[in-house]
Amino acid sequence: MSVSMNRRVFLGAVAGAASLMAGSRLAEAATDKSSPLRPSVQYGPPPGVARLNANENPYGPSPAALKALAEAGAQGAYYVGDSVKKLISMIAEYHGLSPEYITLSPGSSGGLVAAAVMAGQSGNILGPDLFWDTTSRAIEQQELGKIVRTPKTGDMGIDLDAMYASIDDSVSMVQVTNPNNPTGMLLDPAKMRDFCIKASKKAVVLADEAYNELTDMPEQNSMIPLVKQGHNVIVARTFSKIYGMAGLRVGYLIAQPEVIQSMGRYGIGWYGLNQAGLAAAIASYEDHAFMDMSRGKIREAREMVTDAIKANGLTALPSQTNFMFVNLGDINAEAFRAGMEKEKVMIRGIYRDYNNWSRVSMGRLEDVQMYVNALPKVLDSLA
Ligand SMILES: Cc1ncc(COP(=O)(O)O)c(C=O)c1O
Repeated sequence: MSVSMNRRVFLGAVAGAASLMAGSRLAEAATDKSSPLRPSVQYGPPPGVARLNANENPYGPSPAALKALAEAGAQGAYYVGDSVKKLISMIAEYHGLSPEYITLSPGSSGGLVAAAVMAGQSGNILGPDLFWDTTSRAIEQQELGKIVRTPKTGDMGIDLDAMYASIDDSVSMVQVTNPNNPTGMLLDPAKMRDFCIKASKKAVVLADEAYNELTDMPEQNSMIPLVKQGHNVIVARTFSKIYGMAGLRVGYLIAQPEVIQSMGRYGIGWYGLNQAGLAAAIASYEDHAFMDMSRGKIREAREMVTDAIKANGLTALPSQTNFMFVNLGDINAEAFRAGMEKEKVMIRGIYRDYNNWSRVSMGRLEDVQMYVNALPKVLDSLA
């Protein structure tokens, strides 16, 4: 080994040791509120807090995505361009579509808001009683129209027949979240397909498939083939869930090219995208090993919660997602949420008038264990 090589190896080792020491100092500082080394911004949950309220996948971003985003971050001086084209072409190729059927957006929310605002130009949005309506509320906030809801089925599912019967001239878009949030329930794929084909003859159908990749049979549960067959269906997908990239904000919509163009007028385009998020998405799009790992952890967490709620005399809806909707019986979901917060477990409170239903996300297994441990204590305190 040459002298200069020896010196490089030595300096590398010193730098490595120094960065390890700095790493451990930073880790200590993160928990010490008075430390001047404490990071000024908290990018994730504070240490010791189980964050189970936002349906994130804490196992992401994947190792390949982390590497890619660090490289791309260093090129942050440059506007996106090739990376947008690359990701669109990967998605297009995977589904056997041409690129004009696809648009990227900042998370799927960016695209979902554009779809809602587009729909609001000519009517109302029809949805089930309970669905992920956060983005569709744009139609009401901008006084463009309203969200019209149909009642749920007896088993808390989406009543597709009732939805179909409710499509009249005032409805410009029909929205179905599948699997649904906050219920976690999946629709029968054949029924959903028939519904989409019929309903899309009357109004554009938006299938929000944020959790599709978490289901047991993602391909069968997706409505993307209907777009390919020419039906007026928009499918929304995201890198926030199975890919564990919620903070990197990449999502996409698949629809007829003229619908994609039309939505482009309402706030989606390259300008909402960032190089690091795109790089991470490109690196993880077909990372099946990582996706399998995430799915496995989420299933494990669901089993832990299922066992715990059963042991405490509760039930939950069948979930195909990274969250569960728990029936608390007589207990108020907001009081339960507040009780869990005292135990450093963050979960969701009441949805609409579902006063006794509580949504919990499948986070890291140790965080889910905190929920499991706190459950009897919190339930007892509210009995
Ligand atoms: C059903 C559904 N769709 C869309 C989103 C939006 O996610 P993002 O904008 O991160 O893609 C969420 C977020 O929780 C969701 O639950």
